[in-house]
Amino acid sequence: MDSSFSFENPYGLKKVAVLTSGGDSPGMNACIRAVVRSGIYYGLEMVGVLRGYEGLLNGHFTPMDVRSVSNIIHRGGTILKTARSMEYKTPEGQEKAFQQLKDAGIDGLVAIGGDGTFRGAEVLARRFNFPVIGLPGTIDNDLYGTDFTIGYDTATNTVVECIDKIRDTADAHSRLFFVEVMGRDAGFIAINSGIAAGTEAILIPEEKTDIDKLVEKLRIGRENNKTSGLVIVAEGDDGGGAIEAARKVGEVFSDYETKVTILGHIQRGGSPSCFDRVLASRLGVAAIEGLLEGQSRVMAGLINNKIVYTPLSKATKQNPEIDSDLIRIAKILSI
Ligand code: F6P
Repeated sequence: MDSSFSFENPYGLKKVAVLTSGGDSPGMNACIRAVVRSGIYYGLEMVGVLRGYEGLLNGHFTPMDVRSVSNIIHRGGTILKTARSMEYKTPEGQEKAFQQLKDAGIDGLVAIGGDGTFRGAEVLARRFNFPVIGLPGTIDNDLYGTDFTIGYDTATNTVVECIDKIRDTADAHSRLFFVEVMGRDAGFIAINSGIAAGTEAILIPEEKTDIDKLVEKLRIGRENNKTSGLVIVAEGDDGGGAIEAARKVGEVFSDYETKVTILGHIQRGGSPSCFDRVLASRLGVAAIEGLLEGQSRVMAGLINNKIVYTPLSKATKQNPEIDSDLIRIAKILSI
């Protein structure tokens, strides 16, 4: 244990496991590296769990030393792999997972992922009084208790790069493109990348989609000498996604030839941005230091550039709100 830090270690932790679960996000590897290295720095034995909760309940553990996380800080995906486990959702599956942890002598867990991952972590902490900390790893940025989730910055940069390319061809052919982005039930990816890519309109689940208004806007743009257009659509938008929005607009507005691009899983891959690597590194260390301070059943997040621990139940149940100022700015700048 490093002597310059004196943690009480009230749980008496000796061996801590780390897992990634749910949709992968760029920066998860940087985060695994930070958890493993900081754990070892503070004298803990570190273990990786393969394929999330599925691996946990089947006892798929792998020892992690400082070199096991070398050369991964720049890689997308997750070296621990990930999964969405149905069995872990059952009380028997959870019991099995807890038994595996006990049998392996593991006394703490860091779970990296989104809200499904946190629900799984919360159950473990609540039912078995097991020390657990969650870290926000999802491209969606839809977790309460952190300004940014690991992977969101990289994903939005990927989207902007893609839309810039679509803009070139849209302009060359004088076409109207509907570009669908991920974000399940949240419009964070759409609003941020829509502003950054300068799209005509941004359709998000947090705002009721009004096709007549959208058509009116596109018509005004056309009258003001716009010769091509881009509309970004969040996959969870109430209008039914990009294909549906394009169809509805096309029925009443025929000034443009209309095309649809669904960006899909390209948004989840790739090398993490500098921002995501630093965020992942800070949160990884915060998870270990939090556990050693006696934190559990919480998510470590970043609010106003400071580490904040938020109860897992709050992080999953409470939805973060889209900044209404971003919506306003997008509208002003898309005339
Ligand atoms: O939660 C991350 C996310 O990428 C969402 O934006 C998307 O709706 C979902 O995962 C897709 O999941 P899957 O990879 O299982 O199709």
